[in-house]
Amino acid sequence: MDYGGFSKDSREFIINRFDTPTPWINYLCNGKYAALISQTGGGYSFFEDPRYQRITRYRYNNVPLDRPGRYVYLRDAASGEYWSAGWQPVCKTPDAWECRHGLGYTSISSAYDKIQSAVTYFVPLDDNLEVWFIELTNTSEKKRSITVTPYAEFALFDASEEFMFHPNLHYFSTAEYDSRDKAIYYSFYNKRKGYFQRNFSKAYFSITNSPVSGYDCEREAFIGKCRSEKNPEGMKTGKHKNSAVIGGNVIGCLSTYLELEPGEEKRVIVVLGVDAYENKLTPDKILRKFSDEEHIAYEFDRVKKYWEEYTSKLSVDTPDPLVNANINIWNQYQSRTTFDWSRYASLMYNTGTGRGIGFRDTSQDTIGVVHTIAPQVKDRIKLLARNMYEDGHAYHLFFPTVGTGDPKKYSDDHLWIIPAVYSYICETGDYSILDEKVPYIEGSGGTIYDHMVRAIDYTLANVGPHGFPRMFYADWNDCLNDIDKKGKGESVWVAMFFCYVAKQMAELAGEIEKPKDAKNFTEIYDDMKKKVNDIAWDGEWYIRAFTDEGNPIGSKSCEEGKIHINTQSWAVLSGVAGRERGLKCMDAVKKFLDTDLGIRICWPSYSSNPDDVGSLINYPPGIKENGAIFCHANTWAIIAEAMLGRPDQAFDYYHKLLPTVASKKVGIDRYKVEPYVYCQFLFGPDHPQFGRGSHSWLTGTSAWMFRAFTDWILGVRATLDGLIIDPRIPSSWDGFKAKRHYRGVTYDINVRRASKTETKIEVNGSPWQANKPLSR
Ligand code: GLC
Repeated sequence: MDYGGFSKDSREFIINRFDTPTPWINYLCNGKYAALISQTGGGYSFFEDPRYQRITRYRYNNVPLDRPGRYVYLRDAASGEYWSAGWQPVCKTPDAWECRHGLGYTSISSAYDKIQSAVTYFVPLDDNLEVWFIELTNTSEKKRSITVTPYAEFALFDASEEFMFHPNLHYFSTAEYDSRDKAIYYSFYNKRKGYFQRNFSKAYFSITNSPVSGYDCEREAFIGKCRSEKNPEGMKTGKHKNSAVIGGNVIGCLSTYLELEPGEEKRVIVVLGVDAYENKLTPDKILRKFSDEEHIAYEFDRVKKYWEEYTSKLSVDTPDPLVNANINIWNQYQSRTTFDWSRYASLMYNTGTGRGIGFRDTSQDTIGVVHTIAPQVKDRIKLLARNMYEDGHAYHLFFPTVGTGDPKKYSDDHLWIIPAVYSYICETGDYSILDEKVPYIEGSGGTIYDHMVRAIDYTLANVGPHGFPRMFYADWNDCLNDIDKKGKGESVWVAMFFCYVAKQMAELAGEIEKPKDAKNFTEIYDDMKKKVNDIAWDGEWYIRAFTDEGNPIGSKSCEEGKIHINTQSWAVLSGVAGRERGLKCMDAVKKFLDTDLGIRICWPSYSSNPDDVGSLINYPPGIKENGAIFCHANTWAIIAEAMLGRPDQAFDYYHKLLPTVASKKVGIDRYKVEPYVYCQFLFGPDHPQFGRGSHSWLTGTSAWMFRAFTDWILGVRATLDGLIIDPRIPSSWDGFKAKRHYRGVTYDINVRRASKTETKIEVNGSPWQANKPLSR
């Protein structure tokens, strides 16, 4: 593959060109402190919350796109020449260059003028900071004097204020150098009462293991007049101004001077972090701890071990190495990142200021991590439940650090808590979650079960003229937001999704011996199912929605958007479609929506100007919700095909969207985004750039692709009754092996093909029956 590929063990993605088509990033984080980093060191850091607790600056949509970042300038004292260890921002062409994104770390190495450098960035597991570990080697024949100058630009701690009020508010910033700690301390005045209280008092930037020869806290002092990070005056002259800031733009910028004999290697440790109130040590003590190379090696090793352990709970050995790399490593890593940061913070797609934690997004993200961090999932579900109203609906987005949320009503958000809880119980068998008491937004309390029941009640209480759930602002498709402007528009997809969750509620109620509830939920299910089949079947597929005026969306009678994917896949997932209709509507998906690169979200894309569909018409045909290959929605088609017993079709849908496969087929210069993680969508065939990827990393695609493959194609699936093995593997495979940790036991699973349609299953060396639960 151009631009790079996986390491032998697939645990690293090695990028071999600095000029990737878009920034190819990594998330380094310990669940609290987070650092987003591109292949050339671009990106920003925050603590717990990318909006309210931002640490370093990111100029959104800058040119280039990943500025500023964590830069390391190198300067040869003899020649006065300077360059960047990570290529940016000086951008001098290196003699060699490579970036390795690994799980929890990124390492950028390069060579310039016979000085070899490697900078490894990581966030330790238990400290609220990031380490930049710089190794320099003199590969020339003569002694060299090299100045090493790490650089970071601090942000206003409230990143949304950057956009609106920077001119005044940056005068709240102060910074000074502390020679004892060899650190720049940055703090932000907000002495008035009523301000949001951050969870840290100040940020710091330090060279911990080597004498500091000069520093600058003020950006202009270091950069100089009419210059940029590319050619700062401080690097041209080799001199700092030793500036402080009392109201101004703050940077962390320090130099250390190294003498390197031929062949000699020296190391510099840079630490950037926050003085969080929860920290057990004061910054001076933390900096001392992180000044010792052995300690750095120890912390780095812990990060590596953490991820090895994290990914060890479920691993597969299939005939397809790209599938293995995806499932065993990158898909799990991406799912964890989405679980940590929802759709909140990225470089190019989420500013880290607007979106907060999405109720529906995070609920779905739990299913991608529950097999490995179930206790955190339980906490997250409780957090979600706290963001529900007494009447059962939920904030669409919320900001947990400040306790606010977006009250706009969506038809599906609140219902997503049910599959999150259901999958948590399938994984753990821990029914006690249902009894956990959690307050509603208004303050009164109720158990999680109570929250789930109210979610059902809320939908039941808000149906439209056909008896389908009201669309409200929108449903899963955020851009179907002109359907229900007058209080009558309905979502057929939510009707199906409602059936799916009602069935889960019936099962759960049965398990906890609430037969009345179980009966009630079953009746609710039957009733809605009947309505969908009576009213929303369009002959070959299911209608997507009904507008205020009762007009169908996603029907053969429509000019545009005749068929939408979700009401076909979910007809099967929810059990609403019988086998015949299930096969028929999924055949229609294949016929009208499938392409070489995946299934488009709807067809034909909208190019006219209807006023009863929604904001998707603002996107040119083929982009995003208007006819793109929406990867998230593809996952459900994979599951539907597996459920229908068409494993080859399921696998085809799965395989062609593997980032490694799709990027290769499209060509990486057109595909553009990282080929090691899923993106939200590929431009659809109605767009001239068919196949271009966008919105990588934070997408519900990740968790659902993982489940689609492990639960439905391999069929190794957690159920309320225990773990079952019900394979639906492609006919070209002889079998597969899997290791699955489940409820305290590790199972070695070996599936071999016995005939065209049958498989032989062995668990821990003994024969096992398909569908028979393990360890209830
Ligand atoms: C984005 C949103 C998600 C929504 C989807 C479809 O991925 O994060 O919540 O369901 O778009 O509109």
